[in-house]
Amino acid sequence: MKALILSGGTGSRLRPLSHSTPKQLVPVLNRPVLEHVLDNVRELGITEIGLIVGAGDRAVPRAIGDGARFGARITYLPQDRPSGLADCVRIARPFLGGDDFVMYLGDNMLPEGIADCAARFRAERPAAQLVLKRVADPTAFGVAELDGTGRVLRLTEKPREPRSDLAMIGVYFFTAAIHAAVAAIAPSPRGELEITDAVQWLVDRGEPVGATEYAGYWKDIGRIEDVLDCNRWMLARQTGSVAGEVDPASTVAEDVVVERGARVLRSRIDAPALVGAGSVIEDSHVGPGSAIGRDCLVKSTRLLDSVVLDGASISHVSGLRSSLIGRGATIGRSRDDRELHRLIVGDDTRTEIAA
Ligand code: DAU
Repeated sequence: MKALILSGGTGSRLRPLSHSTPKQLVPVLNRPVLEHVLDNVRELGITEIGLIVGAGDRAVPRAIGDGARFGARITYLPQDRPSGLADCVRIARPFLGGDDFVMYLGDNMLPEGIADCAARFRAERPAAQLVLKRVADPTAFGVAELDGTGRVLRLTEKPREPRSDLAMIGVYFFTAAIHAAVAAIAPSPRGELEITDAVQWLVDRGEPVGATEYAGYWKDIGRIEDVLDCNRWMLARQTGSVAGEVDPASTVAEDVVVERGARVLRSRIDAPALVGAGSVIEDSHVGPGSAIGRDCLVKSTRLLDSVVLDGASISHVSGLRSSLIGRGATIGRSRDDRELHRLIVGDDTRTEIAA
């Protein structure tokens, strides 16, 4: 079995982060989402991986490399523009040949893995096997309708009036039967070749299409809130360890990770939290749910439930919560004005100030 991971697309709902970083490289627990995806694929024993990237994208190949680090071989498959998930299968066809494959959306987090779903696909080998999860708002997803026996009847991409609450998670298993379907469908009204339509084509022809309901945690990292939520979920399940330095004047709770080269000075860190390698926490209180990247500075600050990306610096801030601070950003005290804030805010940034 091979894997096809999708890392093209625009990520417009993840602005401002996606202005500078493809959304698949946004960190969760200080590691790009794509690395978590690759872990899950490797766990299935797959070593041949095709990775769809935007044609001009150099960031993903730079961050991920040739796959050797993951014990795999990655073939980069450039896509000129985001023309749909089924278009990705079309582009990957020479790479995939006649092999079975798992298609995995590079912005989907399933930290509990997909081994059970893969085992079922390998045992039954239907033309397509979908992974579903009940969601509160199905209008944002592809939605599946099943009959009483669990057979897939109908699939609709982002329906305005959903007929079920079963969303398609971004993991699909296919045999080579999918290629005929992809070749047969036409672009949807939004101009994309939809994988939903390709699977529906198989259903309409009586091909076996299976579905499994996923019991674990799943998050499509589409919005900033999703990044925060997923970090929170993963932090709550990490095992604490201190490889960095904690001075005697600091208190670090048990389930906190302090990576190598990080320094905690005269500070309190409540669990769960993560302090990345080389970061310095000084005279601060870092509260539960915070993941601080590498080489950051947090000084004389109270920070709760927040994600701070590499190289950011936060000093003399009396309280920050549920915030996402981008790479290399600086938040500090005004030098010459005690009353008025001074902000240099990037494009599409969101700032909420306690007045
Ligand atoms: O997250 C699950 C949902 O993912 C499913 O329920 C939907 O049926 C499916 O269409 C998809 O919806 P999204 O709107 O979330 O798709 P998005 O545009 O975010 O693309 C998903 C991933 O695929 C993302 O990593 C970008 C990549 N992609 C997307 C397109 C359209 C490509 O590599 N090329 C593309 O042309």
